[in-house]
Amino acid sequence: MIIAVDGPAASGKGTIAKALARHYGLPHLDTGLLYRAVGISVLRHGGDPANALDAQRACGFEEVLLADPGLKSEAAGRAASIVSAHPAVRAALLERQRAFAAQPGGAVLDGRDIGTVIAPEARAKLFVTATPEVRARRRYDELIGLGLSVDYDHVLGDIRARDERDSARSAAPLRQAEDAVLLDTSALDVAAAVAAAIALVEAAA
Ligand code: C5P
Repeated sequence: MIIAVDGPAASGKGTIAKALARHYGLPHLDTGLLYRAVGISVLRHGGDPANALDAQRACGFEEVLLADPGLKSEAAGRAASIVSAHPAVRAALLERQRAFAAQPGGAVLDGRDIGTVIAPEARAKLFVTATPEVRARRRYDELIGLGLSVDYDHVLGDIRARDERDSARSAAPLRQAEDAVLLDTSALDVAAAVAAAIALVEAAA
């Protein structure tokens, strides 16, 4: 059983995907980490994420980079959303994601284009969303919890800019697959969102 979980930044899709993986005993891949690894690699080599060649070169990043705490930073998220618009970067990361999805027992993948590009055959597809304000509040609380000093309006501006970039790009833009079900988590806490997600997967399976 493949479960595809897509949605914008800080929508709760990562938390939901992890919980679904635990619930069904399936492996989970946070595909945003792959783009973040490319983004941070470009920055660390003094390159420009907007430059397609710099970004393409960074696609051969070392596996250990996926565990780097720096990947969670806003800078990595911003760089990820820029490098992810290059078709060559998406192509370089495609096979790895498809292979993960094709594991014999199934898998849960979360990202922006799982239901549309990576695993259109997925049995259950969720499109998780929430208002930009709610998502910015969650991201803000998370960053404060990490001991970082951040400004809410700045975080909200970043979320809006990321939504715009992810939705407007021509290569695999963020959009709800036609056969995906929408889960708006704006008014839900984690437990309620996870319960709703499990109910939707059960209905789809
Ligand atoms: O989900 P996360 O915030 O970690 O993703 C970082 C960025 O990577 C996103 O803003 C998006 O531009 C890109 N991404 C993507 N396709 C995916 C996952 C992430 O383009 N499947």
